[in-house]
Amino acid sequence: MDNDLEKAQDFNSYTSAQHSTWNFLYERQKANLQGKASRLNLRTLDEMSSSLTSKTIPNVADMVNQLSDKTGWSLEIVPGLIPPSDFFRLLSQKKFCTSTWVRRQDQVDYIEEPDMFHDTFGHVPPLMDCDFASFMHRFGEVGAALSADGRDHQVTMLQRLYWFFVEFGFIREEGEAKLFGAGIMSSFGETKHAWDLRDNLKVFDLEEVMATPFRTDVIQDFYFILNDIPQLEQDLNSWFEKTY
Ligand SMILES: [Fe+2]
Repeated sequence: MDNDLEKAQDFNSYTSAQHSTWNFLYERQKANLQGKASRLNLRTLDEMSSSLTSKTIPNVADMVNQLSDKTGWSLEIVPGLIPPSDFFRLLSQKKFCTSTWVRRQDQVDYIEEPDMFHDTFGHVPPLMDCDFASFMHRFGEVGAALSADGRDHQVTMLQRLYWFFVEFGFIREEGEAKLFGAGIMSSFGETKHAWDLRDNLKVFDLEEVMATPFRTDVIQDFYFILNDIPQLEQDLNSWFEKTY
């Protein structure tokens, strides 16, 4: 057990109402995702099942044990959104950020700032996949280099890549469009909305994605679909070599 994580999470402070909100969110969303989410997401959610379950709010130290055994990733507890440079630096160290607070029952359908359900149910399972874990590590290294160098425009381009893939991307599996991004995975309404648009997706082209602004305050009105995660990592490397 990691004592720092235990202290930072204060697991015993959660109320039974918070655990039951968690249970509701998990059960409802897992059912909602069947047949719509990528196999990558559903498989890794199952692989996390000894630490990330519907029963209780997850213990961060337990999730770290599962993740680090599989792909060497870890989690860092943060109070909320952090500056991009810190976020990139942590990713470059194979650390993903999670909050530990859980939304209230009256916020199950919409929440402005990411809570623990978004950060863990949405983001953590794919980090059990070697290709995605590798992409995220490289993304962090590239972002850390560019932000340390004050390359604000390139940092914005990376944020767009993150938004349209890691948060709201589709991926193609065996010819079929499947939901992938954490912003979709963790949202009941966005799952249904995105799924309804599955026949009308934009092909994921790194340059186009990096030139496309996004809004954080509305449901998405278009989505990109990616064919191949290792190819995206290669494309990111080529872009970095050209730009840096
Ligand atoms: Fe997120």
